Amino acid sequence: MSGSEKVSMRVAGGGRLSGRLRVPGDKSISHRAVMLGALAGGTTRIEGFLEGEDTLATLRAFSDMGVRVEGPAEGRVVLHGVGMHGLRPPAAPLDLGNSGTSMRLLAGLLAGQGFDVELTGDASLSRRPMRRVVDPLRRMGARVEATAAGTPPLRVRGGPALQGIDYPLPVASAQVKSCVLLAGLYAEGRTCVIEPAPSRDHTERMLQGFGYAVERSGSRICLNGGGALRAAALAVPADLSSAAFFLVGASIAPGSDLVLEGVGVNPTRTGVIEVLRLMGADISSMNERLAGGEPVADLRVRAAELRGIDIPPELVPLAIDELPVLLVAAACAGGRTVLTGAAELRVKESDRIQVMADALRTLGVAAQPKHDGMVIQGGALRGGRVHSGSDHRVAMSCAIAALRATGEVEIDDCRNVATSFPGFVSCARSVGMELYTIHMPDHA
Ligand code: S3P
Repeated sequence: MSGSEKVSMRVAGGGRLSGRLRVPGDKSISHRAVMLGALAGGTTRIEGFLEGEDTLATLRAFSDMGVRVEGPAEGRVVLHGVGMHGLRPPAAPLDLGNSGTSMRLLAGLLAGQGFDVELTGDASLSRRPMRRVVDPLRRMGARVEATAAGTPPLRVRGGPALQGIDYPLPVASAQVKSCVLLAGLYAEGRTCVIEPAPSRDHTERMLQGFGYAVERSGSRICLNGGGALRAAALAVPADLSSAAFFLVGASIAPGSDLVLEGVGVNPTRTGVIEVLRLMGADISSMNERLAGGEPVADLRVRAAELRGIDIPPELVPLAIDELPVLLVAAACAGGRTVLTGAAELRVKESDRIQVMADALRTLGVAAQPKHDGMVIQGGALRGGRVHSGSDHRVAMSCAIAALRATGEVEIDDCRNVATSFPGFVSCARSVGMELYTIHMPDHA
């Protein structure tokens, strides 16, 4: 896809979802598999790797730092790990595109290297807050700089000896937690983070899978610096954040009955399932198993009458990426849904509170944005033309909303869907949605 073209989606109103579907690999796990595999001693084999733009940016960054990579080919990646101190300085700044996870985790990992590196990104990433990683890294003795506004580019200077810290996270953020823990691998002594609320724990699990001891006691997670990682074989589960579009779609579209295969159901990610069940969704979990240290299941979802709820704030960090599509579920539910405690949504790939409220209002929904959430009165949806704010999850959420709209929904600016869910359109078509993309030169 060329950088100078506009991509929009057109989705027919109505329809139902049926059949079986395996969505692409988990984005968070794919990023971490590359990072740890690159630093391990030996050959790491990954299956089910997400070939999305964000995770490919991480892969490219390591290949630019001298890591030999085979693939990706049909989700298979082989990494010839260079060991904890084997990365080489890249010839140019590392461009991480739209990917906040790449930038924040790499900042921590690179703070302990012996060379300077600059991390850049696209317009959206260049607006995102980075002080949340710069501050703890500086406390560890790292030399990291953002712009005066606390945004990218990030400059990480190599050389300083890092010290372990005890760091209470100001926000429940897995990216910040992971950044500090990855820097902690290179620090003298012990590094601990204290979480204000649970957030996804893939870094902790995967470090252990690579033979690195991580201790958790309550909300405190600690590791000792100076150890080494052992190469591993990893099977990446299907991404619950991508499956979520279809969990909501099949719930709201009458007559739907859909099975989503091999989905990661790590309990630090399953807020979306819990919220949907509280709303009355019919989701059952089958064939529960473990794959690469992560719980996996097949999820069967059937259409149900949803009711509005007050979303429990403790579920918000466990459903953070699924809140846009949960707002679509709320729009189709009977009664009122209230989302609070979700101010983080304002600093995602777009201001997801404002952009989702604008889109839902265009579709005829009474959606009132609040500083940290939204109040939605469920009701009928009409067709219309909405803007995604260049945000992949907003774009896909609006496509799902069309399942209950009385007319066609056109979504502008859908290029970034490929950052997390390449093949969204063909997956959606395979289970019964009527949608297509339109590519236009940017000057049209
Ligand atoms: C992620 C953590 C979350 C999430 C993002 C992926 C990760 O961000 O929104 O899509 O892989 O660690 P925060 O840590 O900022 O909540």
